[in-house]
Amino acid sequence: MLMFWRAAAVLSAAFLIGCGQGDERHHKYKIGVSVYQADDIYISEFREWMAASVKEKEAAYGVTIVMNVADAAGVQSLQNDQVDKFISQGYDVMCVNMVDRTAAAVIVDKAKLADIPVVFFNREPVQEDMARWSKVYYVGGKAEQSGVMQGEIIADLFQNHGELVDRNDDGVLQYVMLEGEPGHQDALLRTEYSIATLTRRGVRIEKLANDTGNWQRSQAKEKMSAWLAEFGGAIEVVFSNNDSMALGAVEALREKGYNLPDCDKQVIVIGVDAIKAAMEAICQGALYATVLNDAKSQAQGVIDIAYSVASTGEALSAVPGFDGKYLLLDYRPVMREDVKEN
Ligand code: BGC
Repeated sequence: MLMFWRAAAVLSAAFLIGCGQGDERHHKYKIGVSVYQADDIYISEFREWMAASVKEKEAAYGVTIVMNVADAAGVQSLQNDQVDKFISQGYDVMCVNMVDRTAAAVIVDKAKLADIPVVFFNREPVQEDMARWSKVYYVGGKAEQSGVMQGEIIADLFQNHGELVDRNDDGVLQYVMLEGEPGHQDALLRTEYSIATLTRRGVRIEKLANDTGNWQRSQAKEKMSAWLAEFGGAIEVVFSNNDSMALGAVEALREKGYNLPDCDKQVIVIGVDAIKAAMEAICQGALYATVLNDAKSQAQGVIDIAYSVASTGEALSAVPGFDGKYLLLDYRPVMREDVKEN
């Protein structure tokens, strides 16, 4: 009898310890993040929002969330290695900002084998790769909407205050287009829809030049300097697929005496993202407008889905618009009157 109780006590103690360990495990979650390029300004602001969202989750649920961020530095094979590491270190979920968005199959297959869900963000994998496994999700913006909004803002300006845009007064809008990285869904759709919107609105247009600045300020500045040397004051509007490149264009313009404070030589420049530096430039009047690529809500969506899938096995998000696989968020125009002067 005594033997029986001793054995029972040992068993129940083991059971208790087991439960305790189980609880502990369930109160700590590990999220592995890999970003395509850490020095991309939009992505760095996105990471800050992800970190803030992790803190909110910890406070709301009394859990510990370890979020480790790896920089793939623009190299797909390096990102694949980072994913291998997250898998071998037993991460609960991975959030991946693809270097090459057409190369997600490898990552999806590795994740599936290890049964670790993946939330892709900002750089959208192709549909076939998204369909390879049910525990694969995507969070991003509705890219064509950002192009339409850029087009609407410029069409409004051209039709209501033509004198501010049409400097040669020929009734035609002369523009240059600074494109993001080739193949990126946002670059392709913003380029296409901004111009399609002007045409739909009946604005007569003439493209002077277009080229990629790969999302980067310095590359955009170089392109813009070359275009200014070639076309000079004939450029009336600069469409840029993002704010970093728009700011590069502003720098080039300022070096040639345009877009300086209190100067009437103003070229209209429009971006996308609403990064902090762009908001300041809008305040100063150097950048005409931008379109909010809602990093805060998108980052919250990524963390919501990641936390939900890690803690319950089910993918849910409090951010409206999630269909169980995709969370695509709205953009919003940002004009000077929307930017608070500090
Ligand atoms: C942003 C860009 C950023 C790119 C990175 C885009 O949605 O507008 O600023 O460089 O994502 O993938």
